[in-house]
Amino acid sequence: MSDKVVIFDTTLRDGEQSPGISLDPGEKLEIAEQLARLGVDYIEAGFPVSSQGEFDAVQAISRTVQGPVVAGLSRTQLADVDRCYEALRDAERNRIHIFISTSPSHMEHMLKMNEDQVLEAVRMGVARGREHTADIEFSPQDATRTPLDFMLEVLAAAVESGATTLNIPDTVGYGIPWDYGDLLTHVRDQVAGDYVLSTHCHNDLGLAVANSLSGVRAGARQVEVCVNGLGERAGNAALEEVVMALKIRGDQFPGLETNVRTKELARTSRMVARVTGYQVQWNKAVVGKNAFSHESGIHQHGVLKERSTYEIIDAASVGQEGGQIILGKHTGRHAFADTLQKLGIVVQGDALNSAFARFKELADRKVQLTDFDLEAIVAEELGTALEEGFVLDVLDVQGGTTGMPRARVVVSRDGHKSEATAEGDGMIDATCKAIKQATGIEAKLTDFNVSSVTGGIDALGDVVIQLESDGMRASGRGLSTDVVEAAARAYVAATNRVVRAKARIPGSGLDAVRLSEVIP
Ligand code: KIV
Ligand code: ZN
Repeated sequence: MSDKVVIFDTTLRDGEQSPGISLDPGEKLEIAEQLARLGVDYIEAGFPVSSQGEFDAVQAISRTVQGPVVAGLSRTQLADVDRCYEALRDAERNRIHIFISTSPSHMEHMLKMNEDQVLEAVRMGVARGREHTADIEFSPQDATRTPLDFMLEVLAAAVESGATTLNIPDTVGYGIPWDYGDLLTHVRDQVAGDYVLSTHCHNDLGLAVANSLSGVRAGARQVEVCVNGLGERAGNAALEEVVMALKIRGDQFPGLETNVRTKELARTSRMVARVTGYQVQWNKAVVGKNAFSHESGIHQHGVLKERSTYEIIDAASVGQEGGQIILGKHTGRHAFADTLQKLGIVVQGDALNSAFARFKELADRKVQLTDFDLEAIVAEELGTALEEGFVLDVLDVQGGTTGMPRARVVVSRDGHKSEATAEGDGMIDATCKAIKQATGIEAKLTDFNVSSVTGGIDALGDVVIQLESDGMRASGRGLSTDVVEAAARAYVAATNRVVRAKARIPGSGLDAVRLSEVIP
């Protein structure tokens, strides 16, 4: 058995079947080029018979992308197989992936075919594929809900007709690791011939990666995966997770390797997220923005001393940055002092204690603080307030149950005044929009937190706002008995920090990349 685990990427076919994703040929090509850089062995570029756009995309990828074999999906119908080959024929190397459903449910409700008819379709379709190319993959769709004997009979027919890869799709994510592994063992033991066994696992029970690994353990030497775990419904097995599990737990998969250049994983994930519009969940393994972030004081203390205390993957090996300390309410004094030191700020003794207390107070308001916020806190504590920047001179708001909420603001900076009026979903929204216009500072509001400092009808509203601009985050706080005014003051304060942060980056000695990479 080979010691290579072939990575068959189906982001552009099964991944594109994620609800709401529709990629045009240009977008598919962009992703395919990156998959080639990543080092996948196969790119399943699409299902050519399904539309002209799909055909064009598969053809464009076949004509352009160098390195991986380009595959196309096809039903067993001869016209499908021919059309699929037509799209693939210009590729350096190509594969036709032929499938038909074999479970009783699919055969009765969808195909309206009996077992003999399915067997005949498999023979015809696979043989037709072999007339075009020597690389034919066959998949019995819904294999995990197909009676074993029939599935084995279908697979044997496929091999006799020329299939070189047998893929066992867990189409509805029904398998669990040990029964999926057993299923592959049955195939290996009972279907004779020279073929590569392959896994294709969906994630309906959250087991797609576990099932794929179980398949590898049972002898599969191809794994079908999607970047970021995209795919129908709950998705397919995530490429980055399968690849890193094989690598990090090599002790469980002795001698097995993939061709993937793991340093490209994070970049690939970001590109796929951008092009598909499917954001990666923060806590996603390997490529999520939290995968190497540490929030609790104890963990922070550990990773500051030695990364491996709480990180099993070398972050750089997957294109991420390791040991990221998240400044939040769980941060300990150790990480706080360490971060200040890295910023070149030296505070000790009582000043450190009071700065830490002030930091905790702000962090308690659920805002994730940035390095720039720390700097401001320390400056306040040391009595060296930062130069002011924009000042809110005037705020007029109109709201109520009729008409669109409106706000007019006047801000000044260095003696220059600027006025703007804006409408919004509410008075606070209108105010923030007006300030944005008046200052001309583009920033996205990423967090808004309001609380009252004291009880009663005259309570002070305490607003903390976080803004994000060009990959940097900064927060600002405003206090007032009027919550709209408090929001306006917080927005202006956060804007001033954004401005200061941007001004400081060139030549400031601060590591701008490190700061911006914390943000996805
Ligand atoms: O999930 C599935 O069954 C498929 C096949 C077409 C392989 O995607
Ligand atoms: Zn699938």
